[in-house]
Amino acid sequence: MNDLSAPDGPKPFVKTLDPENDLARGSAVCIVGLRLDHYSTCQGPAGSIKRMRLIVTADLHYDIARSVAPTEALASRLSGERADGLVIVGDACGRDPDILRRCLRLFDRFAGQVFYVAGNHDLWTDGEDSLRRYERDLADICAECGVWYLDAKPWIRGGVALVGSIGWYDYTFRRASLRIPLRFYRHKLAPGAAEALSDHRHLLDRRDDVPPESLAVGTRWLDGVHVRLPMTDVEFTRRLHERLAAHLSRAAECAERIVVAMHHLPFARMVHVSGRAAWDFANAFMGSEIFGELLLSVPQVRYVVCGHTHRPLRTRAGRIECINVGCTYAAKRYEVIELA
Ligand SMILES: [Fe+2]
Ligand SMILES: [Fe+2]
Repeated sequence: MNDLSAPDGPKPFVKTLDPENDLARGSAVCIVGLRLDHYSTCQGPAGSIKRMRLIVTADLHYDIARSVAPTEALASRLSGERADGLVIVGDACGRDPDILRRCLRLFDRFAGQVFYVAGNHDLWTDGEDSLRRYERDLADICAECGVWYLDAKPWIRGGVALVGSIGWYDYTFRRASLRIPLRFYRHKLAPGAAEALSDHRHLLDRRDDVPPESLAVGTRWLDGVHVRLPMTDVEFTRRLHERLAAHLSRAAECAERIVVAMHHLPFARMVHVSGRAAWDFANAFMGSEIFGELLLSVPQVRYVVCGHTHRPLRTRAGRIECINVGCTYAAKRYEVIELA
């Protein structure tokens, strides 16, 4: 069992790599990943990595019919790419975690190390606890597939680190201009949806703070149906923030260059504002600036790569280059990061 929180002794998994593509060139031909979150020493060869080519993709949604063929085509294409690492930034499966296993297996022929970061859809469940899914089940599937689960531990080699987190949301990206009260965001549905659903109509017991035009907004964020956390979103965001801070601190001890992979968005400037209330209601669930503030506090962070919005974007936040891969359900794409 791969538990993010409980140390129970090292249980290494080994993935044999093509020496031509080994991230630890000149040292071993295997990567040994400790299936724990509790090591603190710098890993890897004594020398520094001079160049590193990373491919990044996200939102493969292999559980959705129209994503299956494009995902398989992408995997086939990437299997022939020469790169040191492939980072998949969340939302590969839905309620059935076996689909993550099948999705990751598509990349078995990729020559470098595959990394995974969870997405909100990967936490969708039919009954069990999403926290268990996040902290144990996804980690176990990644370990079984020889994939490095960045939510559990950073990868640190030769002065380079990859650090990852699902990220989450605390509704601070909500659009103030919509004037929708916070209780609707906590229940993840807009006033129009609450009015239509008898089990949520109580949110309208008080109407004096509900703008009449918001009753026409029928958006429901489906994490509210399928994600079952034993804590609030704000508490979960705080928990993830603490873990990411610990991972960044560990990485910063050893690495001059850090790439962060995060499914949700760490900067408000990465959030798309459509001007249509039905879409902009969902901005509350895109991420949180507390992650961005953390990234900016670590000078070695060079890149942050994200998914979740299904819209491609490149922008900057201070010295950090921010990339959103922007896969849609039907069209898969990837970005390349050349660390030199
Ligand atoms: Fe997605
Ligand atoms: Fe997502």
